[in-house]
Amino acid sequence: MNNFQYYNPVRIVFGEGQIEQLADLVPNNARVLITYGGGSAQRTGTLDEVKNALTSNGERSVFEFGGIEANPEFTTLLKAADMVNEHNIDFLLAVGGGSVIDGSKFVALVAGLTEADSTTVSREQAWEALTSGCRSLDTAIELGAVLTIPATGSEMNSGGVINYSERSAKLPFGNPLVFPKFSILDPTKTLTLPERQVMNGVADAFVHVMEQYLTYPVNAKVQDAFAEGLLKILIEEGIAVKNDPTNMDTRKNLMWTATMALNGLIGTGVPQDWTTHMIGHELTSLHAIDHARTLTIVLPSVMRELKDSKKDKLLQYARNVWNLDTDAENAVDEETLIEQAIAKTEAFFRELGLPVSLTDAELDESAIEPIIKQLEAHKMVKLGEHRSNDLEVSRRILQRAV
Ligand code: NZQ
Ligand code: ZN
Repeated sequence: MNNFQYYNPVRIVFGEGQIEQLADLVPNNARVLITYGGGSAQRTGTLDEVKNALTSNGERSVFEFGGIEANPEFTTLLKAADMVNEHNIDFLLAVGGGSVIDGSKFVALVAGLTEADSTTVSREQAWEALTSGCRSLDTAIELGAVLTIPATGSEMNSGGVINYSERSAKLPFGNPLVFPKFSILDPTKTLTLPERQVMNGVADAFVHVMEQYLTYPVNAKVQDAFAEGLLKILIEEGIAVKNDPTNMDTRKNLMWTATMALNGLIGTGVPQDWTTHMIGHELTSLHAIDHARTLTIVLPSVMRELKDSKKDKLLQYARNVWNLDTDAENAVDEETLIEQAIAKTEAFFRELGLPVSLTDAELDESAIEPIIKQLEAHKMVKLGEHRSNDLEVSRRILQRAV
């Protein structure tokens, strides 16, 4: 196991009916901007529930900013940042999924980058900050979250991803200043999700775990056991929720698993990959494919293309997650065992109704070069746990994924 510091200050408030805790969680005299997406927060009544909780006590001033897109857009978020300055907002409350929470983290970080003597945020400075991952920013507005879709883990991490369509970019950022002060995880809020989004969430969480697990062994028994446990829960509960969407125990387990998949714990002290995600971001940016679906298209080909360097962890994954190779009489060779585990992974994604190839997403070989060009433009040329996945490797991964 490598040296590490693990720090995660997020207070998680978990369970049915916990939105009312906002009355105690948000500072009494805060000037709050509630941020939300394209309409689900209003339709489901969650927005009203949040507003009632905020105005049930204290002297809070409450403002709203809606319309944050799935794959949140830079230009939309800068309007929210301007509003933060116009109304002297000192607390952001994100009500939604990864897009709203990521977008609100970005707003919290760039709101201070105003033009001289103006409340307007400099678009240039904000773009500059994003291209360097917002790591250099040293102030941020406080924020909290009410999670409505278990998927990204954004509710308990300090990262995010921002789309800038005009520049054909979808870029990651991260800064410890934007760990949410708290996140409310009420599993009943996920009951209104379309099946597509529930399945996306299972797949996104699954691949988050794989990015931090399927690398090479460093004898990190805690991280490996946690990661394998999360994968097995996602397999079991992912199928269960498809068969019975009303089961609250399943919903609770999925919600907490998705959070644990990307709150830093299983990724601390171990090598991490993220090749699948970096290629996936370009697929979303170029073809507007849901984030999670880009991952299920790419991951199996990453596993096949990199099976030599990932061999030890692929064998561990086959045995400990899929219980393969348990029967000594019918033991298979390692090559076969690895391919069986990859095939199991693909079959799981298919069972959730998710694509496992570019063809499944109605794309063909011609989609590959534009993605490679984007990877190069975004300096994604040394990907993976060994930083050795260059553009040629990414090209081969995509060729396998056709
Ligand atoms: O916009 P509204 O109307 O709210 O609808 C949303 C959206 O269309 C809908 N939805 C959310 N909660 C709902 C609901 N519909 C009905 N009932 C509810 N309770 O679901 C759609 C998808 O929402 P979104 O927030 O986009 O989904 P997700 O949570 O999967 O977030 C995806 C974004 O997160 C980024 C992705 O790149 C993508 O931009 N990621 C963030 C990460 C992080 N911060 O750590 C890591 C991830 O790898 C990922 O990159
Ligand atoms: Zn993801």
